[in-house]
Amino acid sequence: MIEKIENKTAKITIVGMGYIGLPTSIAFAQAGFNVNGYDVNEEIISTLKSEKIHIKEPDLQQAFEKVLNSGKLKPTNKLEKSDVFIICVPTPFIKKENEKLSDISYVESASKAVAPFVEKGTLVILESTVPPMTTDEVVGKIIEEETKLKLNEDFYLSYCPERVLPGKILFELKNNDRIVGSSSEKAQKITKELYESILTTGKAYTTDTHTAEMCKLVENSHRDVNIAFANELSIIADKIGIDVFELIELANKHPRVNILKPGAGVGGHCLAVDPWFIVEKFPEESDLIRTAREKNDYKPQWVVEKVEKELKEKFPNKEKDITIGILGLSYKPNIDDLRESPSIEIALTLKEKGYNVVGCEPNVLKQEIKGIKNLSLDQTLKKSDYLVLTLAHDEFKQNISLIMSKEVLNVVGITNKGLN
Ligand SMILES: NC(=O)c1ccc[n+]([C@@H]2O[C@H](COP(=O)([O-])OP(=O)(O)OC[C@H]3O[C@@H](n4cnc5c(N)ncnc54)[C@H](O)[C@@H]3O)[C@@H](O)[C@H]2O)c1
Repeated sequence: MIEKIENKTAKITIVGMGYIGLPTSIAFAQAGFNVNGYDVNEEIISTLKSEKIHIKEPDLQQAFEKVLNSGKLKPTNKLEKSDVFIICVPTPFIKKENEKLSDISYVESASKAVAPFVEKGTLVILESTVPPMTTDEVVGKIIEEETKLKLNEDFYLSYCPERVLPGKILFELKNNDRIVGSSSEKAQKITKELYESILTTGKAYTTDTHTAEMCKLVENSHRDVNIAFANELSIIADKIGIDVFELIELANKHPRVNILKPGAGVGGHCLAVDPWFIVEKFPEESDLIRTAREKNDYKPQWVVEKVEKELKEKFPNKEKDITIGILGLSYKPNIDDLRESPSIEIALTLKEKGYNVVGCEPNVLKQEIKGIKNLSLDQTLKKSDYLVLTLAHDEFKQNISLIMSKEVLNVVGITNKGLN
């Protein structure tokens, strides 16, 4: 296999043509491999076959057209024999009371689908984010059961998590360091060789499977715990009546302190979800990770409580007559992604409580988002009596003096003042 990788004759099939699978197929095709891009969704495959990509990602369309026209990438809804299968299917979550549990059914069905094509020497790689112990114990077991082949003796299996940033996926695929985890040294070696063929400045590091699985979850949990610390500080600072952003900026002048910024909460499909995959497997041992998740999940509710308190003081007996403008509805600055957005939770909770709420999300060109009117910044400033600044979008930063001239709860601390 090493030789086939070196001379680019190894055939690769990517399973799942989404945000991760499609750019990964393009990267391997650009490196000179023959790649099959497989998806169960026929619409996606026919879109790809008609030379169009179905995801929003800068520069990807051009790169896709090149590898499609060169014949190196073949979109397909039929699996066939391949030297390498790379599984990039979704791992969504199921909400259970206040917790989120992983749904690995797509990983299971993808493993069942590739199993008939796994032969002696085949390498299977899982890239989807999964709870620890899913690679060998779920994917490996399914393939062993379906094929009667033995893991690490007949076929090889690795876990290679993704850490790319949407908007920069193709660049980061080549420039980020990769973690390659496997319970077989031979698989580690082959998989490292394979990823090194697409890496430019990034390096591939090998480890065992469980460390690689945990590595992905720990990266996001680390950020989540640190944001929770900042969010906790914001609530304490509010009680004291001091500015948390000034406090953090001053504390960060210490050479070994680097506190993150608090905000309206934590959203999206990675930071707000992945830590739960550790809690799910180790509920007794993960109280810090769980508490951080709960703290970050509570922050939008705290913002609502703070808004209600301020409205009572600033607009006594008129709270429900005035209009509240929520500045930012996506889940982080300068993107259009609304998944698990804390700002939307704030807007909807206030609306349910009977307040008049409008939103301003310059990155989404829709007149309404989840039942909230989506106005321009100019319209929002004109219409609103009270503003909640929930995201540090560039447009808000550029107009901060205008925004701050109104009654505003500044949850993200954009300011036109520096430290004294
Ligand atoms: N998107 C990101 O920025 C990102 C970053 C890091 C990790 N991840 C992880 O990567 C994985 C994939 O995420 P994504 O964003 O690419 O998902 P996605 O929803 O964009 O794409 C997944 C694709 O898999 C297809 N699919 C589902 N079941 C299939 C099956 N059995 N066989 C073949 N195709 C199948 C779907 O039709 C879809 O096109 C997830 O585990 C996610 O958590 C994503």
